[in-house]
Amino acid sequence: MSNILYVTSEAFPLIKTGGLADVAGSLPIALAEQSEDIRLVLPAYPQVMQQVTDTKPLASGIYYNLEVTLLETQLPNSNVPVWLVHCPAIFDRPGSPYMNSAGQPWHDNALRFAVFCKVAVDIAMNRLNLKWQPDVVHCNDWQSGLIPALLQPLKQRPATVFTIHNLAYQGLFDYQTFIDLELPSALWHPEGLEFYHQLSFIKGGLVYADRINTVSPTYADEILQPEFGNGLSGLLQHRQGRLCGILNGIDHTVWNPATDPHLAAHYDTTTLDQKRVNKTALQKQFNLPIDAKIPLVGMISRMVEQKGLDIILQAMEKIMTMPLQLIILGTGDMHYEMELMKWSQQYPDRIKVIVGYNEPLSHQIEGGSDLFLMPSAFEPCGLNQLYSLRYGTLPIVRNVGGLADTVVAANKQNLANATANGFVVPAQSAPALVATLKQALTLYKRPKVWRQLQLTAMKGDFSWQRSAKHYRELYQQAMADRDQINAG
Ligand code: ADP
Ligand code: GLC
Repeated sequence: MSNILYVTSEAFPLIKTGGLADVAGSLPIALAEQSEDIRLVLPAYPQVMQQVTDTKPLASGIYYNLEVTLLETQLPNSNVPVWLVHCPAIFDRPGSPYMNSAGQPWHDNALRFAVFCKVAVDIAMNRLNLKWQPDVVHCNDWQSGLIPALLQPLKQRPATVFTIHNLAYQGLFDYQTFIDLELPSALWHPEGLEFYHQLSFIKGGLVYADRINTVSPTYADEILQPEFGNGLSGLLQHRQGRLCGILNGIDHTVWNPATDPHLAAHYDTTTLDQKRVNKTALQKQFNLPIDAKIPLVGMISRMVEQKGLDIILQAMEKIMTMPLQLIILGTGDMHYEMELMKWSQQYPDRIKVIVGYNEPLSHQIEGGSDLFLMPSAFEPCGLNQLYSLRYGTLPIVRNVGGLADTVVAANKQNLANATANGFVVPAQSAPALVATLKQALTLYKRPKVWRQLQLTAMKGDFSWQRSAKHYRELYQQAMADRDQINAG
């Protein structure tokens, strides 16, 4: 058993903008079940404070002239302790944890997450008298990137692991910010936090963590190439011996069609016919023609370039001529939101676009759709295709990252040996997407084949148990690496 400090900027159900929250809300529970003593550190955003009632102050301090209190609570439905970094001046703001209502990053994001990192470092070094010190600090994404950099030179430090959930978000700020944050000047060089004359938070993790991982094996390979490396492939190649990919799992208590409280009807592999009730409910709710036979395609997504919205928009004219209905739930870049809305106004009987964040509806779309659209240009892991598989909603994906590791294309061979569970778009282009949709619609007309695909999808095992074991191995490797550095 080891002591693990899990540092994250979001965790379901306390606060969520994307898949990181799902991971941070479920992997720690799986690790606790495997006897790790794990504690979460999370900013005390207002959404979090509204949900927790039983907070206990543990420590307080001043960081960059701001008063900070560390509050203890628990991850709902678990015994996993959560330590909230309570600093109203920087975290008590409505809306997204990262952006203002105009979709711009909060002006003081560098300061906000520097405070967060410094508190985590003080916990890690047992400076807050918590009577608990981690053996490993597990950091996630750029918001926690400064931690490995700040810990690295210290004696008696815990080992560090840095998980890349998305290399496209790097936490880049100008040089003046580096000065204002009073970071050690020894960190300012191209092999340190400097990235083309800018301060890069993510480099703190990539350069200084004892071990690095991404959230799927294929993405771990891809980011070594310039095409997927976001300017960091050279550094990652240099650290290749310390880098691995561990596929995300899913939380079966939250995403289970047999028990999901948001669904009109429950179903499993033996009662799959009931899925139809959810489809009718969805068609009713969105005023689409109620028709069990017309294929219903769902999509739930942050509306950003990553998710393949460009090829969807380019293909939309052709898609609207196909016999299908489309329901899209998402929020993000205004440009994509508006373009999609235009299509839904033009074809109200075929496409519904719901702009916003809606947790219950996301479950209803998974439960009621026949197909799930996710043609991402890159995808570190992707959770929605995993939820879709579990709900017998066949995913249409690109063969990149975690999508390639989890979706098996319905080609002749895979259909014959019953391993197929979805559809794979062979290129990031509108014609390729249209061709794959056509293929899916053709198979939809063959109920027996479709049923087999659904059953294979639903039987896939994407629970956390296996991945949690891999993380435990990674923690051991990180501790061994740290010991070796100390010995040298
Ligand atoms: P990413 O983390 O890149 O956004 P993932 O597929 O890993 O992609 O995870 C996305 C998570 O966020 C899923 O749980 C998905 O259901 C959820 N999600 C995304 N957009 C919305 C939305 N508009 N409403 C509700 N849930 C959403
Ligand atoms: C990121 C990635 C997504 C991944 C999620 C959780 O947001 O974009 O692919 O599933 O993190 O690891």
